[in-house]
Amino acid sequence: VTGSETSPLVWDADGAPRSRRFDDIYFSKQDGLAESRAVFLHGCGLPQAWGGRRRFTVGELGFGTGLNIAALLDLWRREGAAGARLSIFSIEAYPMTADEARRALAGWPEIAEASHALISAWPGRAPGFHRVDLPAWNATLDVAVMEAEDALAQWRGRADAWFLDGFSPSANPQMWRQEVLALVAARSAPGARAATFTVAGAVRRGLEAEGFSVAKRPGHGRKRERLEAVLPGEGADPGQSPRVAIVGAGIAGAALARAFTSLGVRPVVIEATAPGAGASGNPAALVSPRFDAGGGPVAQLYAQAFARAVRLYRSEAAGAVIATGALQLDSGDRDGRRFDVVASSDLYETGAIERLPPQQASGRLGESSAVGGLWIADALTIEPAAAIRPWLAGADRLQAAAASLARMGTGWSLRDSTGGQIGEFDVVVFAAGAANARLTGLPLRPVRGQVSIAATRERPAPAAWGGYVLPTRDGLLFGATHDRDDADDTVRDADAARNRTLLAKARPALAAALAATALDGRAAVRAAGPNHLPLAGALGEAGLFVLGGLGGRGFTLAPLLGEHVAALALGVASPLPATLARIVDPAAFRERATGAGSGG
Ligand SMILES: Cc1cc2nc3c(=O)[nH]c(=O)nc-3n(C[C@H](O)[C@H](O)[C@H](O)COP(=O)(O)OP(=O)(O)OC[C@H]3O[C@@H](n4cnc5c(N)ncnc54)[C@H](O)[C@@H]3O)c2cc1C
Ligand SMILES: C[S@@+](CC[C@H](N)C(=O)[O-])C[C@H]1O[C@@H](n2cnc3c(N)ncnc32)[C@H](O)[C@@H]1O
Repeated sequence: VTGSETSPLVWDADGAPRSRRFDDIYFSKQDGLAESRAVFLHGCGLPQAWGGRRRFTVGELGFGTGLNIAALLDLWRREGAAGARLSIFSIEAYPMTADEARRALAGWPEIAEASHALISAWPGRAPGFHRVDLPAWNATLDVAVMEAEDALAQWRGRADAWFLDGFSPSANPQMWRQEVLALVAARSAPGARAATFTVAGAVRRGLEAEGFSVAKRPGHGRKRERLEAVLPGEGADPGQSPRVAIVGAGIAGAALARAFTSLGVRPVVIEATAPGAGASGNPAALVSPRFDAGGGPVAQLYAQAFARAVRLYRSEAAGAVIATGALQLDSGDRDGRRFDVVASSDLYETGAIERLPPQQASGRLGESSAVGGLWIADALTIEPAAAIRPWLAGADRLQAAAASLARMGTGWSLRDSTGGQIGEFDVVVFAAGAANARLTGLPLRPVRGQVSIAATRERPAPAAWGGYVLPTRDGLLFGATHDRDDADDTVRDADAARNRTLLAKARPALAAALAATALDGRAAVRAAGPNHLPLAGALGEAGLFVLGGLGGRGFTLAPLLGEHVAALALGVASPLPATLARIVDPAAFRERATGAGSGG
């Protein structure tokens, strides 16, 4: 028996993975694939159960090696309807690494293509939800790294089929608690089916108590029997695709366009000027998290959004990446301790955030630093235009300035300032940056910002300290100013001088080298909500949504929050856990704003 101390598994002499914690096997080495197909796929009536459906959702308790999901993907490719979409939600409290899964799945060459797809996009292992894109399979997989009961409470999808694959109830009672089975039923679509290898009386009775009709069926291999369960009713697809408008073509609008397109809906993006005309139009942007000490929901939101943004820019906008890795320098008295907490927390993948003493920070920075900081290995410097362009490609585009809305049947007529109709839509998402305040009535505050830009051969290492410096395609960018309640976007000489002073705080040598270099400037307006929380969700009236208040982190937040809003608008499962959805919900924001004043 071998395996590393921190791994959830050990390898049996015959090469089969075995759980260290539960002392049970993940699947049988002889016929694991056949058993997975018989117990879970056949047990849930697949492929017949998805016949005629455009969307089908599978939930799983116990992601493990991913064998069941690889077998499912393989069947979906062979027997799924052309153009139909598969959405998978799987739960795993003790995730393994991609290398461990590769070794475990190597025994099934029959499904090698599906296993390979899964392993090469293997989900992160930090606590939280992780989305895996499988575009070639018309599928997405959300893996919840947490206790089954928590994961089910956090997920707001409805599954058509469930693979109940904890370890045996005697070894792993937590996975089969009545509270878990109750949540499985609550997160099921009408007519949902559930399948499992165990016929334990408590599981049978537990499923029946939650409304499932349960039947024992002849088992597979060494297991004599297995269970099939079904809820009353019949699953159905959502109606026709809605007509979707997105107002604004900054990073928020582009991320929304990408999200709707990947769910099979082609939106119309309405932009007053040109893509990137607002805050999203700098020549470089830093994609990095906001470091709130502690493990609260705000820190979780930034951690998940950061992981998602990095994955999506790399996979779908690779041409936009200018640099990888960034240094966050200690800038306030409390930063040292705050950063210690972040570096040792489990919010980020192991090794992704490293605490650096001043000497090592200096090495990363490129000149001597008196302070230490955090090395964020996965942070990206991106060229915004090169991310926005591909994400808008799947959308129709209209140049117009939206000014008002009027009810039109079950949808909305979107109008310009002369009252002329721009179009009629079922869903309208406001992603107009600072203009969201006027368009939605939400109390967003403008925060003017100016960056300084130099064309030079110097390519600085990305670093932030309150100010920041980034490489661009043909030089560098630094700044930035923050002026609250100032919505003017003209470039000011005084602000260029402020930026030089800010640069000199962390990079005096670079600032001195640039003293004689002429600077370009670009000013734009951020939109900030109270407590600097973004806004993503429904506006209260059917069909109206917002993605805004992205503050100084739009490039980190927009990819995940765009997916969240698109999922809400189309009635499919969001990649955002419910607790995090709540803190960005505009309804909660309105309550906070009218309640305790405007905070932050
Ligand atoms: C100086 C500065 C530096 C920054 N650096 C970074 C960084 O490094 N990393 C980071 O993550 N974030 C950074 N930010 C923040 C980031 O730029 C924003 O969070 C982000 O751009 C907001 O995107 P958005 O799509 O919501 O808004 P915007 O980019 O402002 O896009 C809104 C779009 O809507 C359009 N529009 C407005 N009104 C209408 C209308 N009525 N009808 C139709 N279209 C309309 C506008 O023309 C615009 O194109 C920075 C911001 C500033 C100001
Ligand atoms: C039998 S294995 C799953 C095998 C997996 N379906 C496969 O295809 O490889 C059971 C899985 O459930 C996970 N697990 C056990 N208890 C859990 C709990 N309380 N919450 C979430 N996951 C749990 C284990 O870590 C293990 O990966």
